Amino acid sequence: MTALSPPRTYRVKSFGCQMNVYDGERMAELLSQQGISPAPDGEAADLVVLNTCHIRERAAEKVYSDIGRITKEWGRNDGTAPLIAVAGCVAQAEGEEIMKRAPAVSMVVGPQAYHRLPGMIAEAMGGGRPVDTDMPAETKFDVLPARRKVGPSAFLTVQEGCDKFCTYCVVPYTRGAEISRPFSDLVAEAERLVDAGAREITLLGQNVNAWRDADGRGLEKLIEVLAAIPSLARIRYTTSHPNDMTDGLIAAHRDIGKLMPFLHLPVQAGNDRVLKAMNRSHSVASYLAILDRVRAVRPDIALSGDFIVGFPGETDAEFEDTIRLVEAVGYSQCFSFKYSARPGTPAATMDGQIPPEVMDERLQRLQTALNIGQLAFNQASVGKRCTVLVERKGKLPGQWLGKSPWLQSVHFFGEAAIGDLVEVELLDAGGNSLAGQLLHPAHA
Ligand code: 5AD
Ligand code: SF4
Repeated sequence: MTALSPPRTYRVKSFGCQMNVYDGERMAELLSQQGISPAPDGEAADLVVLNTCHIRERAAEKVYSDIGRITKEWGRNDGTAPLIAVAGCVAQAEGEEIMKRAPAVSMVVGPQAYHRLPGMIAEAMGGGRPVDTDMPAETKFDVLPARRKVGPSAFLTVQEGCDKFCTYCVVPYTRGAEISRPFSDLVAEAERLVDAGAREITLLGQNVNAWRDADGRGLEKLIEVLAAIPSLARIRYTTSHPNDMTDGLIAAHRDIGKLMPFLHLPVQAGNDRVLKAMNRSHSVASYLAILDRVRAVRPDIALSGDFIVGFPGETDAEFEDTIRLVEAVGYSQCFSFKYSARPGTPAATMDGQIPPEVMDERLQRLQTALNIGQLAFNQASVGKRCTVLVERKGKLPGQWLGKSPWLQSVHFFGEAAIGDLVEVELLDAGGNSLAGQLLHPAHA
């Protein structure tokens, strides 16, 4: 095979969770550092990175249809097909299998190995088809280029992997064991993000609240230190596991003003038998007790969660318990999914797999209940004054879009710029956003 010319442009497409968004940004920075430029929107790219998600079957299958489409539609400027790199959790889980199934793919790189992309690109240009799904001892974070330019709201991965082994979930297999990044590295990266334009940082981890440093300091200590960075205005964290919700972290919601009143704490189901079969290691009552403790220190906290309907063996009555839980909690926003059997997980071979039409019906009912709750939460915000972090322009001339402290989307008209923190009065609520009135521009 003849050697290919080096790629001059790239596009990274990330699917799935926010940690993939973070990884996608880091891969883009790495490729830019190699002298490869981001391809303009809508144009073909010489190198396409598909940063994939394996959490549900449909997400994983999407990769293969995307590969087909890209090979058909996106030729390189010199008439050859683009280099396609499959990254992310599908890469980790399927490795060599992808090469067999998709001959158009030039390289496969797992979430812990993507700092090695430049060497892999060189190999692919020589006609090789490298696969790297190692979990190497050296960490990608030590070799990736420093962050240069980011939006007002930036992600920072502080923890990766999961030791919880919920019976439906592939994450412990694709992302490996729980690993916390060192304290000082995180403070340094947060400072760089702020220098690069971030006003808000969301700390990310599959189990972010399990973050611990070598001295046993927990996430609240990290948040406390980050809160001292002068131009950093807001801190958030996601995703948390109920079992790692410590007193210290709950107290941080009382003590640290820059920690936003928002908690994403997935419960998955509202029935104890189902939770046990899921190996969640919390009950409905212990979950609700955590929410009570958080609300005691931060009464205005907005609560969010994840739900799975149709876990194997879930009866109608057990599903109704989930609806009751949703109605009792009053979530501000949630993610809800149909159970998807993942190969290699214990739940995939459990008895009582639920027929698709039952899952559809349950998901619809759950989403109706969640939407009612979300609208009620937004309506209860009408009349409040709050700070909005301006993230982008709205669709209409003079309109801006940003986030309230409770992570609601807020649109308003007036003098503002991206990255500003402005004072807004919330005037009107819909299910997905609120209309606000600019009170006066706050100091940027
Ligand atoms: N099927 C459906 N949803 C799943 N999730 C994780 N694994 C599965 C699965 N096999 C959901 C959980 C988790 C979120 C990230 O994805 O709700 O919290
Ligand atoms: Fe998956 Fe459970 Fe770990 Fe979350 S806590 S990543 S659902 S195994």
